[in-house]
Amino acid sequence: MSSAVRFHDQHVDATGVSFRDDAIAGLSLARKRLAPKYFYDRRGSLLFEEICRQPEYYLTRTEEGILADAAEEIAALVGPEALLVELGSGASRKVRLLLEALRPRRYLGMDISHDFLLQSTRRLAADYPWLEVHAAWTDFSERLCLPVGLEGRRVVAFFPGSSIGNFTPTEAEAFLARLRQALPRGSGVLIGVDLVKDRRVLEAAYNDAAGVTAAFNLNLLERMRRELGASVAPDDFRHRAFFDTAASRIEMHLVSECRQALVIDGHRFDFAPGETLHTENSCKYSREGFQALARRAGYRPSAVWSDAEGLFSVHYLASG
Ligand code: AVJ
Repeated sequence: MSSAVRFHDQHVDATGVSFRDDAIAGLSLARKRLAPKYFYDRRGSLLFEEICRQPEYYLTRTEEGILADAAEEIAALVGPEALLVELGSGASRKVRLLLEALRPRRYLGMDISHDFLLQSTRRLAADYPWLEVHAAWTDFSERLCLPVGLEGRRVVAFFPGSSIGNFTPTEAEAFLARLRQALPRGSGVLIGVDLVKDRRVLEAAYNDAAGVTAAFNLNLLERMRRELGASVAPDDFRHRAFFDTAASRIEMHLVSECRQALVIDGHRFDFAPGETLHTENSCKYSREGFQALARRAGYRPSAVWSDAEGLFSVHYLASG
């Protein structure tokens, strides 16, 4: 039995460069911001796993319950022998809920966090000896294509966790349309989408009592220090997360607690007291609202599952 992972390096050198360039570009804006994909260095990926275990963060356990209950129905929609591609595979934990029912021949994990991706897919390969496991280190938000040798196969793209929420609705529609073009005929997308609900429940999920989400947000500044040699005082920033009802999204910010400067490579960025660095949007949808978005992106929404409380949804979108 082999537990080898076929590893495809897609953007070996692009990732480090774009963090520096994107940080400088984002900090130069009148309203400073940085893309949430930069949360996921090794420490950020571990902190995210810890967020998923917090009692206030209902998303993960709710989605896992939905997937476990719906696995057979999902398998019937997908059909046998598809190539299962996970976008942002992280710890490759959720996919385990589907493997026995789906019995895909091949799995491809895609993630931006290199070491995390390798470790997780190796473990998956060891636990499922019948599965051919591939890993691609890639920023799929920038470029979507299947590695050489895997093109042309019918795909089920698995995009769990409501990561789609990091895009604005306009961006999400464009991303899903682009994904559809990259998929061969007969493919589909299995996607987890967080639902709009009472703001107290939403805000608690992004302000856990143990402070893990705060540490996750602040790690972005520590990462700038570690990887970019930035001069910055993470202790002088604090975590803020709130629900914007009009935009139907959680926004996360790092709020400067004083007048201070952040310096990267001689580029100096001044913060006034109370000024923020916007680090994340997490958009929330209704079931119907997301189905309408999927239709605009060219899909046929063919099933949606939810938990009894209506906290979270999982959609199957047929690509043709
Ligand atoms: C991975 C984007 C789905 O928005 O809930 C969790 C990331 N940020 N807590 C989310 C996150 C703060 C998460 N997604």
